[in-house]
Amino acid sequence: MIQSGWQQSSEARKVFRMNTRKSEDRSRPARVLSVTSGKGGVGKTHTTVNLGLALVKLGKRVLLLDADIGLANINIMLGFKPASTLLEVVRGGLDIEDVIVHHASGLDIIPATSGVTDMTNLSEEERITLVGAFDNLANKYDFMLVDTGAGIGTNVLYFNEAAEQILVVVDPEPTSITDAYALIKVLSTQCAVKEFDIVVNRAPVGSDGREIFAKLAAATDRFLPVRLSFLGAIADDESVSQAVRRQTPFLELYPSTRASRDISRLAKKVAESPGSRTPKGGVQFFFRALLEQ
Ligand SMILES: Nc1ncnc2c1ncn2[C@@H]1O[C@H](COP(=O)(O)OP(=O)(O)OP(=O)(O)O)[C@@H](O)[C@H]1O
Ligand SMILES: [Mg+2]
Repeated sequence: MIQSGWQQSSEARKVFRMNTRKSEDRSRPARVLSVTSGKGGVGKTHTTVNLGLALVKLGKRVLLLDADIGLANINIMLGFKPASTLLEVVRGGLDIEDVIVHHASGLDIIPATSGVTDMTNLSEEERITLVGAFDNLANKYDFMLVDTGAGIGTNVLYFNEAAEQILVVVDPEPTSITDAYALIKVLSTQCAVKEFDIVVNRAPVGSDGREIFAKLAAATDRFLPVRLSFLGAIADDESVSQAVRRQTPFLELYPSTRASRDISRLAKKVAESPGSRTPKGGVQFFFRALLEQ
């Protein structure tokens, strides 16, 4: 059962200890997936949190990185108070573990308020300190999911470029599709990213989302040197907005609604897929790439 947990809860500490123990005998680097979109408000944060939770339910160790300083942060969605900031890690005294929130759900989170979005504005010395601190996270997780925020701002591009797999969330609105196209175009032309996984959120009743994917793919196939894959769709479901008010992930509150079934299917597909064709070496190298850009 999920509590609106804060890292001090005994349940959270128990899960954390379990995760730490599990981590000791696994050595494969985490797969780092960014969850991004051209247009805001299409469902990135819900997708990140619930996909993460569905992966936890599959026995995976998951770290969420909230790289979006916007209003509806992961900490609001999960109802916890942000922890310490990376500044305290940079200035010494705190360990990276002190910034990570161990939520009762089993998810670990680096909140946006930790200063993660300012990471690309650091001095050389601060960068070196942080790279070293993040190295301690190597092999502790199976997946890191990065909620990037929307659009083609520098921060969004940096986080996507450093990830090994990019999930672009679109909804059926025409502007969501044109803005996704614009983001894919910038990532492919400026950052040489060629592969994208598309998640269609808010798929209407009777639709499996493929026709929305097809609209985007028709445009990219014609004009851009990229490959799009259809990862899956999440139904438009009122349980999602109800979950927001309860500050609990919809998968936990309403595990058998359409949106929950969809996100569980998506997680299974992600977990069973071999991962990126161009693995970039896990959490450790994600932060190195980010800080060295
Ligand atoms: N599958 C869905 N069914 C119904 N409503 C949804 C669904 N997904 C998202 N929503 C609605 O859209 C709102 C925005 O979702 P979310 O905060 O995840 O988007 P976002 O892309 O992270 O937004 P931002 O760009 O502002 O960070 C939610 O509060 C919810 O009301
Ligand atoms: Mg968001």
